[in-house]
Parts: sequence; structure tokens; C-alpha cells
Amino acid sequence: MPLTAPIIDDATIRRAAQVLRAGGLVALPTETVYGLAADAKNVTAVAKIFAVKRRPANHPLIVHLGHPEQICKWAIDVPDHAFRLAEAFWPGPLTIVLRKHSDVPSIISANQSTIGLRIPNHPIALRLLQEFAGGLAAPSANRFTKVSPTSAENVRADLGDDVDMILDGGSCEVGIESTIVDLTQSPPVLLRSGAISRDELEAILGTELSEHNRLQTLSPGQHHLHYSIDTPLVVVESTELLLTACQALESGKRVLILATLDLPDSSALPFPRSQWTWQQMPREATELARTVYQQLRLANDSGYDLIVMAKAMNEGIGIAINDRLLRAAHRTK
Ligand code: TXA
Ligand code: MG
Repeated sequence: MPLTAPIIDDATIRRAAQVLRAGGLVALPTETVYGLAADAKNVTAVAKIFAVKRRPANHPLIVHLGHPEQICKWAIDVPDHAFRLAEAFWPGPLTIVLRKHSDVPSIISANQSTIGLRIPNHPIALRLLQEFAGGLAAPSANRFTKVSPTSAENVRADLGDDVDMILDGGSCEVGIESTIVDLTQSPPVLLRSGAISRDELEAILGTELSEHNRLQTLSPGQHHLHYSIDTPLVVVESTELLLTACQALESGKRVLILATLDLPDSSALPFPRSQWTWQQMPREATELARTVYQQLRLANDSGYDLIVMAKAMNEGIGIAINDRLLRAAHRTK
């Protein structure tokens, strides 16, 4: 947890658990992004999540647990390698898709026969899960199609009074959503990339993961407009950054350039200084992941006509960053 994280006392955690038991919504910090949590067994409360997020009913929710022993209350036919993944990566930024237990309300799984489970690695989330002693359905705490919140302020800005309580745990360590692996298929399928890489999963599974088929309709994590922002965003290889920025500037646009490299010198951009800003992003991929959504929010609000951003190196968590960037850029392609 970041050193700047506010301290949350036990009474606040107990109050949050009461809000959840009463069918309310609590925004909680996780190591990936903030989640919008409700009692996963309370159909009315879960319906509120969909309403507040304005999320279509065919997008299933992840259930967050406090202990791996709870897996079998939520899933059936759990293969051995699910327990191996849980042992290796939980608590942590990994969601495992399994066959759903019949006790799980169908609203959670969007009427599918599977369920996504995760134990988050954040002390506040874990304390709340322990106090609540049940499963918490929690998607990212943003409106549908917007970028996920990585701070309590982001949640407040996005959801305002539509959430009953926000637990402020400072800014999220990982910064992008969990890796999702579907173990109901053989070989298992990587549904969403994240901080836990394909290689790390394959090492534990002892098998290669299959590539997600983008044509499958029941793969909502792949929704094209996920993670989008309003200001047009173009994502390019870093070698094309200057050229793309120059072309946009030539056409009269004001351009914000998000770069991981230094600007060689300002003569490389022979346009009035008032027309462009070259903004340095973290070079290191885990640091870039941690800040990328925050940077996109700020860039979105900065009043430029266009944001041009360089892709991360396509390795490790950089793969997940690029995946999110390309989704955020979708509307400009
Ligand atoms: O890091 C995270 O996973 C965050 C934190 C709060 O835990 N949660 C999150 O939830 O990103 P959400 O709902 O914003 O994204 C989860 C994605 C959705 O696209 C959903 O459709 C997909 O996972 N998903 C959930 N259950 C699924 C299932 N049973 N099968 C396939 N996809 C599933
Ligand atoms: Mg989301």
C-alpha cells in the first residue's frame, strides 16, 4: 500500500460491512483499480451495481473473496490447476473463471454458466472481506466504457452520490485491471492481460494458454468501447510519435504528446509552443501502468484537440498497458 494511503480504522470497516449487509454499495480500493462492491448474494444490491455503472446486463461481474477456501462455495468442478494458480497468485491481480455454483445468482454471471473469482491484494479490501465474511461482486468503480478509477477522488468524480460509501486507500499499486484466465476451456484461455503475465500463468499451468477469440460474443471484457476517453487519442509506436504529432499540428490541431522518451530538441516540433505539450510518462513499465489511467484522465480534461501517446514496450505488463491504450483509442481509429 502506498505510504500516502489514509488510515482506515476498524469502526469504518465495520460500518462498510454493515452498508453491504443492508444492500448498499461500497467503493473499495484494490491493488489493481477501485471496485464498486455489493453483497454478491443479494440480487437487489447487485442490480444496483449495473444501474449505477450503466452497465449492460450481459457483462458478468467478478466475485471477490477473502480466502481460497471459499472457492468451492462459488464454483463447481474446480480443476487442480485453479488451486495452483490461487496458491501462486492470490491475493493478487488474477481473476480465475470457473464453472459457476448453482447457488450463485444468475445476475452475477449474466446468465452464463461460469464465474470469475479473485482475492485482491489490498489490506483494506482484505479487511472488509474478512469482516463481511462473504463474496463481494465488484466491477471497476467507473461508469460503463470509461477508464477505471485508481484513486478515491476518481471514484467520487465518476460516481458521486450514487455510491453509499467510499473507502479511501490511496492510489492503486498496479493501476490496471486484473489478468483474467478462463479455466473452463481446454486449453485455458487468457481473456484479459494484466500484471500477471501469460508466461507466469503458463509456468504454473504447465500448458500454453490459448489466444482469446475476439469474435466470441460472450467475452464482455473485450468490449470495444471499454476504457475509453472523450478526447481523441491516437496510440502509436514510439518511433512514429513525432511524425504523428507533426501531421496533427500541421492540420491545425492542438496536441498533447504523451511520450516515454525525451523530446530530442524543440526544433523537432516546428510549431508554436502554444499548440503542443510534450509530456514525459514513466519509462518503467510497472510505473507506467500505475499512472496511465490517471494520466489519461488528466489528458482528457486538458482541453487539447488530440492526445498522441506512444505504446509501451510490448513485454510483461507493457502488453496489458498497450491493450488498454488501444481500447481507449478505439474511437479514433
Ligand atoms: O482488477 C479487476 O479485475 C477489477 C477489480 C475491482 O477487482 N475489477 C474489474 O471488474 O476490472 P470489471 O467488471 O470492470 O471487469 C471484469 C471483466 C469484465 O469485462 C467482465 O465482463 C469479465 O471480466 N468477466 C467477469 N466474469 C466473467 C466470466 N464469468 N466470464 C468471462 N468474463 C468475465
Ligand atoms: Mg471495468
